[in-house]
Order: sequence, then structure tokens, then C-alpha cells
Amino acid sequence: MTNLPPHQIQALLPSTIDTYRSWMTSAGKSPLVQVLSDGSTRLLWQKTGGIKVLLFFHGGGYVMPLSPGHLDWMAYITDKASDAGIQLDICLLEYDLAPNNPYPKQMKQAILALKHLLNTGYNPNDRFSADVLSKTIVRKWGDYLVNHSPWQQEIAEGNGWGMALDVPEMWWDGLDAVDQIMVTAGQEEVFRDHVLQLVGVFRRRSRAKVEWLVPVAEAHDGPLMDFSAKRSPSATTDRIANLRLLIVFVVLFRLREQIKPPHKKRGKNGKKYRFPPGPSGYPIIGNLLQLGQARDDVDHKFQLDLRDYGEMATIHLGSKTWVFLNSSRVVTELIAKRGSITNGRSAYPVASDIVSRKGRSLVLPPAQWAVKRRIMHHLLSGSALKQYAEFQELESTQMLAEYIYKPKHWYQNHYRYANSVVNRIALGEQFHMSAHNFANTQRLVAEFTRAITGNIIDWFPMLAELPIALQFWRPYWEQIAQFHYDIYRSWWDPVKKKIDEGTAPPSFARDGLLSPDAKFSGDEQEAMYVTMQLVEARSDTTGEALNCFVMSTLAYPDKYQKLREEIERVCGKDAERLPGLTDMEHIPYVHAYAKELLRWRPIFVSTPDHMLTQDMEFEGYSFPAGTCFAINGVAWLNGKEMDITHGLWQFGGGRRICDGYKLAQRSLFLNIARLAYCFDYAPTGPYDSRHVNYDTTGEPIPALPKVRSEAYAKLIMDEAEKLEVLEMAQQEYEEVESWRPEY
Ligand code: HEM
Repeated sequence: MTNLPPHQIQALLPSTIDTYRSWMTSAGKSPLVQVLSDGSTRLLWQKTGGIKVLLFFHGGGYVMPLSPGHLDWMAYITDKASDAGIQLDICLLEYDLAPNNPYPKQMKQAILALKHLLNTGYNPNDRFSADVLSKTIVRKWGDYLVNHSPWQQEIAEGNGWGMALDVPEMWWDGLDAVDQIMVTAGQEEVFRDHVLQLVGVFRRRSRAKVEWLVPVAEAHDGPLMDFSAKRSPSATTDRIANLRLLIVFVVLFRLREQIKPPHKKRGKNGKKYRFPPGPSGYPIIGNLLQLGQARDDVDHKFQLDLRDYGEMATIHLGSKTWVFLNSSRVVTELIAKRGSITNGRSAYPVASDIVSRKGRSLVLPPAQWAVKRRIMHHLLSGSALKQYAEFQELESTQMLAEYIYKPKHWYQNHYRYANSVVNRIALGEQFHMSAHNFANTQRLVAEFTRAITGNIIDWFPMLAELPIALQFWRPYWEQIAQFHYDIYRSWWDPVKKKIDEGTAPPSFARDGLLSPDAKFSGDEQEAMYVTMQLVEARSDTTGEALNCFVMSTLAYPDKYQKLREEIERVCGKDAERLPGLTDMEHIPYVHAYAKELLRWRPIFVSTPDHMLTQDMEFEGYSFPAGTCFAINGVAWLNGKEMDITHGLWQFGGGRRICDGYKLAQRSLFLNIARLAYCFDYAPTGPYDSRHVNYDTTGEPIPALPKVRSEAYAKLIMDEAEKLEVLEMAQQEYEEVESWRPEY
């Protein structure tokens, strides 16, 4: 090494990417390379599906490429972490080598890599290793080591480096974004004393627990050399890998503080926050029991009673504080007008990190959510919607014909419609509603909903910081996550294969996510989750809303009659023509009916939380960052149900508003108008209008539709024939495997 100049060393050794690829292949793993926003810097991953990541900057004086020893070393650390119950991903930076790429290019690439991880939602305190870094360091490195180093001129000329000890000691002040720093050097290390000096700086200037390790017989790069020479790991490696006890200690310490919900915490300078009143609860768990009982209450008494506290009511839920918004005025003020600071989501370690593998945007924090949201929004708004009108009318016509051929399966006809429309958009093809697919979709939705609302861990998210071995809930939810992943894969892989082979039709997956021109920077698994979340979100919601519509026709025949008259006013009294999307502005009563349906029998009694991302004062109250606002879905329209001009639907609001709401509104309009125009419904047994069974794969309400007359049947059949969907409408559904949640 000392005899060869850098160019010759680099010519002799395989490049970083080649070493990585061949190591991964020989280890039987698939290489995963991610290009960063500068278009060239790459991250090389060893993924285990973990939620913690070790960002590794390999050594070599910016001259040597990555070696297999580095990769063996990291694999060893991953194994040890796994033994300690921590699933750890390794992320290696492939930095450009000097002298062709002089310093500070490598420093800038390191900053870019770290920023990328922070932006994709990794938390600095989730990471462990001697390479633990923080936002503070990113900022300071950018600002100082690169720009204010005493060797700036040499750096600019390509001859110098940014040295940690070269900055004034004060520069390290306020290094408090991490709890632990571990510094290692060998006793035989040339820089031993300098490293020790840096430890002194850290101890004086940061609030972190600083650990210093100097194994007696180790030299510079000892740990790496052990792996290169296939010797037993060094004391340093063993110490790095043996963090379990320390982690338990740190977590317990943090738990004590973090278990407090935001409304019980004090701000800077001991400032007390001021929250709206709300029902009293128990110590620690707060109102969790009441909320749990409210879930099965078809009258929604708990949510309705919250109006007694005024426009806002505060609920204490474990270590979260939710403020329910009971009027459209405060919803507009807080969720719409202040949307830029109320667009967060609180942590959902089970529903998001485990069950959704951080892939469902609905439960992602803003940093990870924003890019996915942008892409979905593009797909589901503007001129794209007009294009989808054709799919909607075609699928709706098939559904009407199915109503005639398969009236007993009226609810399955709803789901098939909803599935097919979004499938055509997202995957480019009609969905094959096999019995298996139908049961699986229902199950995914029910399990995900239960993960968001019905697991205690997500109300105390800091519990997820315990070592995995102590997380007794994990195996149960991981099993569910695996099931979801397998189902998603079974739907996604055939489409992906066609995309790879160049035979896939245009679709969101092909053009919006996987095409080289797409603005999506996630990997293939993320693309799968974004697409499948859409496919999953569409069927249950739109299908269930149509099921509620059927219930409303039984419970309020007079309103149903009025609805029909409004439609006949525009489409004629005697089966003249089917209503279409172009009738939307002429029959506002259909919108009013749909809107009231969603309030009357809400699919979501409240929205998910809209978490405040910074402290906020509002009308005499003061809320700390972390406060969660939720729209009280049953309370806020009171008295305005039929007033369609209020513009309020059950689609949430602000920047997190349902991404599919325009598509859903159009689907609800089209199908409600057409069904009311052509069909009557009659009960086939006793029913309770408050109880629409959302979870079942069977009939949710005992009801049977009947076409109004021969003339209406003919109108439907003629239209179905014209659109060539008659044959498909006749196909019988397979027997659906019965599935009911076990809880
Ligand atoms: C009656 C039908 C529907 C209802 C009642 C409904 C309701 C909701 C609600 C309440 C939210 C959360 C909003 C918030 O946090 O403020 C949401 C989110 C979402 N919905 Fe819908 N939805 C419906 C149909 C659809 C359809 C048809 C699609 C897809 C085509 C869809 C895709 C989504 C997505 C992707 C999100 C997450 C958005 C994000 O992460 O930013 N929804 N929906």
C-alpha cells in the first residue's frame, strides 16, 4: 500500500460496487443499491427488514475501495444484533475515491446519506454503533468541517482534510441529539492520544453518555483486519456488538419520561400547556378503556358526548393526547388552514413499522409520507379523473347487470366494482375477484384497521424501543405482517413481471412508480406497498359505503323515494337512460344523500390523528408539538346533514385528506344514482339499521334487490351489451371461504 500510488491501488482492487455485489451474491442475498438525490451517490444495503439501521462509512483514507472484510464485519454485527433481539439493516455509503474526487466530496456524500436516512424517517436514536450521528452533526459538518476548517485552503486545493480536533472546542457544544457515543481506538494506535483528546471534548461538550474503549493489543483498523484475515473478532467488535444491556438501561430511563402524554409535559422554562377540557380517565392509560368500549357502540355515545365539552375535547390515550374536533369551524381552522403543521402522524410501531413494514402511507410520519402522497395525488386528481370516468361507467354497468344475474350477491357486486376500478388504474388490469381474493382483501383491511385502533402498544410507542427479545407482542403482529406481505406479493408480482417484460398495459405501477422517468425514489418493495395500499383502500371503503346505502333504503324508504324522484327529474320517469357522471351537477341530492350516508353509518368514526409538528397557540389554548387532532366523524355535521353546500364529507381533511376522495365521490354518485333509478330493496330477515357488518365476507345485511320493471332490466342489459360486459356479468362467484375476525 505504501509503495503504490492511489491510482494503481484502485486499478488493482475491485471497485466498491463490485465487491459489494459479489459479496452479496456469494452470501445468497440480493444486492440492493439506492441512488441518492444528487443522481450519483449510492447506498448499498444489507437489509434484514429491520427498523434500525447502521450507517457505515468504510475506512481507507478516501483512497481505498470497500473490502470484503468490511462486509464480513457488518454481517457479524447484524448477527450479533439479531441474537440480542435487534433487527438491524446495514447501509454502506459508496463514496467517490480521491484523488480524482478530492475531499470534501466524501464529507458531502456522507451528509447526503445521513440526511436521506433522516428524511426517510429513521430516528437518530434508533441507530446504534460507533457511527451514531445526529442532525446536529450534519448541520455542523456542512457548516464547519467543510467550510471553516483551518485547512480550508488546502481542502480547496485537494490536499487537506476536515479534522475533528481542528475546530474550536465550542463547536461541539449542544451535541445532544444522541444519548450515547462510543469511541474506540487501539492501544497500539498511532492516533491513540488524539482520539482520547476527542473523547475529552465530547465529555465536556455533549450531554451524551460517552464511552471510551482502548483494547490493549489492538492497532489501527484491528477490527477490520481480523475479518479480512478470518481471525476471531476483536475486543472492539465484541464491545460494539454487546450493547443489549446498555440499550435496556437507556430505554428504561427514557420510558419514564416518554410515557407522559403531551398535555402532562412541561415546555421549555417549565411552561405549562393549556388544553380544552375532556372526560377524566385513569392514571397512565387515560381514556383508553372508554375508547375501547366505544368501538363496539353502534350509537357512538362516547364520540357524541364529547360535544358537551365544546368545539374541542381532550382525550388522554396512553402516552398520546388526542384533541377531538367537534365542529366544522375548528376543523377548517386547525386541519385545513394550519395544515402545514397539523399534517403529522404519531408513531405507530405496530400498525406502521411491523404490520405495514413502513409501506402504508396512511400511517407514515410526514418525511416518509410526502413523496408517496405526491405521487398518489398526481394519480388520483386533475385530468386523470376524467380518464377514469370511462372505467367507472363500464364497471358500474357490469355491476348493474350482475345485480340482475346475481341479486343475492349484491354486496359482492359492490366490492367487485370498487376493486376493478382501482385495479385498472393502479395495475392496468381488471381485478379477478376470486373467492380467495375477496376473503383476503376483507381480512387485510380488518387486520390493518385493528392494528391501528386496537393494539395497546401503539398508544405507548416508546415500548418499541425495548430490545426485540422483550417485545412479546412482536411474533403475533409479525405473523400478520407476513400474511399481508405475501398477499400483496401474490397480486403484485405477476404485474411486475409483465412490466419487466415490457408487456404490461399503462398503469400507476408501470408509469408512476417503476418507469425510469418516474419521480419515485423508493425501492421495489415500497412501490408495491404504495400500489397495494390503494388497491386495498378502495374496495372496502367504497364497497362498504354502498352496503350502507342498501341499509338506508330499508330504514328510510321515504328518503329513498325522494332520491329516486330527483334522479327521474333528470333521467326520465320510465327507464329512459342510465344516470352518468355528466349528471353530477344536475342532481345535487345524490351528493347530499351520499354525504349523509357516510355520517349516518361512518366507516371511520374519527379520522386518524393529525399530529402537530411544532408548538401552537390557538384561541387561548397552547398545544405542544406531538398533540394529535382528530375529526370527530359523528359530531361535526350535526344539524347540517342535508346541506350539501357545507362541503364536508367523511374523507378527513387538510394535507392528509383521503387521496381517493374525488374518485370515491364520483363512484358513490354514479352507483347510488343508478341503483336508486333501477332497483328496489326488501329486507329478507330482521335487521338493526345501526349495525352494518363491515368485517364479514358474507351478507352484511339481510336484503335482496329487485329490478323495478322489465323496462329497467332491458335498459341495463342493452347498455351492458353495448359495453361488452354482459358475459362477464354472468360469471358466477366462487364459494367464498368464510372468514371472520377472531377477536
Ligand atoms: C367512501 C369511500 C372512502 C372514505 C370514506 C375514505 C376515507 C378516508 C379517510 C378518513 C382517510 C384519512 C384522512 C385523514 O387522515 O384526514 C383516508 C385516507 C386515504 N384514502 Fe380514503 N376513503 C374512501 C375511499 C378511498 C378510495 C377509493 C381510495 C383509493 C383510490 C382511497 C385512498 C386513500 C389513501 C391512499 C389514503 C391515505 C392518504 C395519505 O396517506 O395521505 N380512499 N380515506
